[in-house]
Order: sequence, then structure tokens, then C-alpha cells
Amino acid sequence: MSTTTLNPLAPSETQPLQQRLVFIETQGCQMNEADSELMLGLLQREGFISTHEPTEADLLIINTCQIRGAAEDKAYSYLGRWAQLKKKRPHMKIAMAGCVAQQTGGAVFERAKYVDVVFGTQNIHQLPQLVRRAFDENEQHVLAVDKQKERSTFDYFDDVTQIRQDNGVSAWVTIIEGCDYFCTYCVVPYTRGRQISRSPNSVLAEVQRLAEQGYKEITLLGQTVDAYGQDFNDRQFDLADLFELLSEVEGIERIRFMTSHPLDLSDKIIEAIANLPKVMEYIHIPMQSGDDTVLERMKRGYTADDYFRLSDKIHAKIPNVALSGDYIVGFPGETNEQFMKTVYSVARSGIYYANTAAYSARKQTPAGVWENRKVDEAIADEVKQERLQTLNTAISKQALAHNLPYEGQTVEVLVEGPSKRNPNRLTGRTRTNKVVNFDAPQPHAGLVGQLLMVHITEAYAFSLMGVYTP
Ligand code: SAH
Ligand code: SF4
Ligand code: F3S
Repeated sequence: MSTTTLNPLAPSETQPLQQRLVFIETQGCQMNEADSELMLGLLQREGFISTHEPTEADLLIINTCQIRGAAEDKAYSYLGRWAQLKKKRPHMKIAMAGCVAQQTGGAVFERAKYVDVVFGTQNIHQLPQLVRRAFDENEQHVLAVDKQKERSTFDYFDDVTQIRQDNGVSAWVTIIEGCDYFCTYCVVPYTRGRQISRSPNSVLAEVQRLAEQGYKEITLLGQTVDAYGQDFNDRQFDLADLFELLSEVEGIERIRFMTSHPLDLSDKIIEAIANLPKVMEYIHIPMQSGDDTVLERMKRGYTADDYFRLSDKIHAKIPNVALSGDYIVGFPGETNEQFMKTVYSVARSGIYYANTAAYSARKQTPAGVWENRKVDEAIADEVKQERLQTLNTAISKQALAHNLPYEGQTVEVLVEGPSKRNPNRLTGRTRTNKVVNFDAPQPHAGLVGQLLMVHITEAYAFSLMGVYTP
């Protein structure tokens, strides 16, 4: 079992773990990215140094995702490679974190004996102690997988520093954990627990600190970020109120948020996005399917028309808004006709981009069990792949159509740093979250973190090209 102390984030009283190198491999969603940064922040306080080279690390952590079968397989295939590394460097410790760890618990050690530490999504704050037990007490198979986060656990995040993305411009801020929806295909409610919102003061304290450190953009994170505050029983305070509170923080220029659930995006939140200049006109709001029967079997709680009414309203109330979403193809029993309604919904809702995935049966979920019972309901892999291709083609067309009007326009871009593909160019994003790669006069260093007006010269489906002239 895990140990608990009064303040798990306080640096340990024993000797710090001097000069050890840690490598973290992050898989899955932005919640995991934010969690990995938190882990790094905690370990740095203990004297660990981050490395990008797994072969030289003393501690290897894999932060796992369980959303689809392939994601889980990927975690174990990484671990297999690390087991080989450990044979050459036996002092090395291997830890598994994230959603697979949360769901699988101690059974991970049965499948992968060489793993030293398994800790769940609710136990990140205990990481320094867990690692000490593995290194200093030579304890084998250290396990910490608790069921549910307490609101106070979030507050411990406030005093951890240096836990952010490399670009030094934008930061993740987790504001709500877990999910209460229990869509029939999804593991998240099981891996992340019940919905719990972080207190506004705790969020504000973190954002103020980020602003002091020079961050310009924050992305408020949650699986259902627009449900923020619904679980407070001592006050009425929702995402719109939080937008207002955070808009006051000097230095923070842009506020983003994801992921929104169609049932939680209230008129009040839409108004706030429209009216508050620091809140970006970009909403990631997954529809999952364009067919009512499939939506009902997914237990999404809305019909296709409900979704279109919402997307129409958003387009009407927020000028120049960009919407994006997620779709699943090949849900058990999905007919071709039902699938074609999903394809149609891309253009009908006016979303400019969507993540797509072939349905993957997860045994913890209700839909996973139907597939086992009624084999005939499962859609063949080839059919899923064909549907995926058809849908992706429709989305690429839509994305390009959405981007073309940017050609010739001058748009506000927050500069994040040199472009990865061509370091002589800069990269950043528009208010609507479009990636812009652009030329600018040298030196570039002073431009990073600035809001620049960039002239768009060329539009592609998934990025824009531009030029900045001072
Ligand atoms: N909370 C968000 C999404 C969380 S999971 C929402 O409600 O929309 C991220 C995406 O993974 C989902 O939007 C869904 O499209 C996809 N996904 C989840 N479970 C899946 C499964 N079993 N098979 C395939 N895709 C899945
Ligand atoms: Fe999963 Fe549905 Fe919750 Fe999204 S709303 S995390 S898809 S259960
Ligand atoms: Fe994956 Fe867990 Fe995120 S299952 S999508 S890492 S919440």
C-alpha cells in the first residue's frame, strides 16, 4: 500500500535523490501530458534531472493510455524494450503510471515482472515517496492505486513549479478530473474516477504563478471541461465564471479549454466565449456519431439534431468560431447507412476538424461486453478501416475548405517557437487553434511569446503558411 504524509508534495526530509536522470514517455491525451509535467516537477524537486535519452536514465516512467486496445498494447511494447535496457543497467527502475496502471493495478507486475513501481492517476502526488521506496529501500513492486481523487489533492498542485511544456509560452491547467457520463464504449470513468472540480482559488493561484513565470496562454483541461463546477455543493461557479476570474490575470493573453461535452455547453458559457476577449473562439466538442440510434446506444444523451442546433447556435453567437470534434466509426451494430450520417454531419455541423477512431472493444465497458455476447454485432476490421478512410477524406476536404478563406488575411498568432520542420521559420497558432508556420526577420528569439499579426500566404488542410513584417 502507499504511504501518505501531511503534505505529499513537500520535498522529502531524507537526502535528496541527487543527480539521477529520469525519462518520461507520455502516451494518451492532454490530461496525461499535464500529469507527466507534474511528475517531472515533483521529481525535479527531489534532485532528478530530466533526460530525453532513455538509455542513460536511472528512472523510466511510462504514462499510459487505455482508450483503445492499440494504446494499451503500445504501453506494453515500450515496456518490453525497457526490460532489455534494464538487463544492461540493472540499477535502473521502471515505473508505470496513467490509465493502464490505474485499471490494471498489481496485475501489471504479473505481466511485466521487471516493472518496479505502478502508480495510478490518483496517486501522482505520492511519486517522490514511491520512487524512494524503490531506490533507497530496494522495495520490489511498489504499488499505489487509489480509487478517487480528493479536491484537496488538486490544491497540492499549486506550489509545484517547472512542470510545463517545453515551449515556455503555453501551459496546461487541469481544472476538472474524471467523468460521470459513462458512455458505453469508454474507459475514462473507470480510469479517472468520478467528476471532481478543482477549487477556483487553486486554479487562480496556479494561473497567477504561470503568468509570473512568463506564460502567455493556458489551456484549461478536463474530459468534460464545460461541466466544471457542477460538483461544488457550497457555491454556484461554472466555467463561464472561471473564464471571467482568469481573464483578470495580467500577462495571460489567451485562455483555451478542452474537451467540451455537448450537454454541458450552456448558453452562459457560449456568451462568455463570445464576450471575453482572452477566451479563444475555438471549441473542441465531440459528436462521436451522426446517427440517433448509434448515439443512443453509445449513451451520449443527445440526438444528431440536438448537436446541429447547438453547432448552429455557436456559429451564430460567436463570430469566426472554429469547432472540432471526435468520431468513432464501426460501433457495434453500426450499419453503412448510419455511418453515412456521420459523414454527412461533418459538413452539416461546420466543424473544421475531427479526430477519428475505429471502435475498439474495451472489456471494462458495457459495449465491450455486448461484443463478446453477440459476435454478429461487431463490425469487421476491414469495414471499420474503409469507413475510417471515407470519413477522414471528408474531414480533410472540410478542413481545407475552412482554411482557404484565411489566404490573404492577416491574423493574430501567438508565437510558440521555431517550427519543428524548418527551424528558420517560426510557428504559432491563431485564436482558432490553427497552426501557422511563418517567415519573420531575424533574430527570432525576441518574438517567441509575442502576439504578432501574421499575413497568411497559403492554406493547407492542417496548417497555414504566412509571413510577418514588422
Ligand atoms: N471526454 C471526451 C472524449 C474522451 S476520450 C468526450 O466525451 O467527447 C477521446 C476520444 O476517444 C473520444 O472522443 C472517442 O472518440 C475516442 N474513444 C473513446 N473510447 C473509444 C473506444 N472504445 N474505441 C474507439 N475510440 C474511442
Ligand atoms: Fe468517455 Fe463519454 Fe466521459 Fe467522454 S463523456 S470521457 S467519451 S465517458
Ligand atoms: Fe487515454 Fe486516460 Fe486520456 S485512457 S485518453 S490517457 S484519460
